[in-house]
Amino acid sequence: MTEADYHRVATTTDLHDGDVIEVQVGKTLLAIYKIDGGFYATEGVCTHAYARMAEGYVEGDVIECPYHGGAFDIRSGKAVAAPCTQDLKTFPVRIDGDAVLVGIAS
Ligand code: FES
Repeated sequence: MTEADYHRVATTTDLHDGDVIEVQVGKTLLAIYKIDGGFYATEGVCTHAYARMAEGYVEGDVIECPYHGGAFDIRSGKAVAAPCTQDLKTFPVRIDGDAVLVGIAS
């Protein structure tokens, strides 16, 4: 992952703790989260069916899918509740000043 792979997706003040927003970088749909003061990024679509994770519910460090009650650990992307069994892909996040940057290998 090089410097050029990091894309600005938000400003740090765009999110409060417990928020999730959707952003698109090229063809990649992402969900960006703020929990416990930290920023995290996962793929934006549930691995079970086509639900958008930014329409889900943040509960502590877990995102619950809006469709069938599946859930994922926001930090690791790990599936933690049925019917989800496949983990969400995660992406590295960096903060540069007030910019939230997500690394997506091109
Ligand atoms: Fe997410 Fe079914 S689409 S749990």
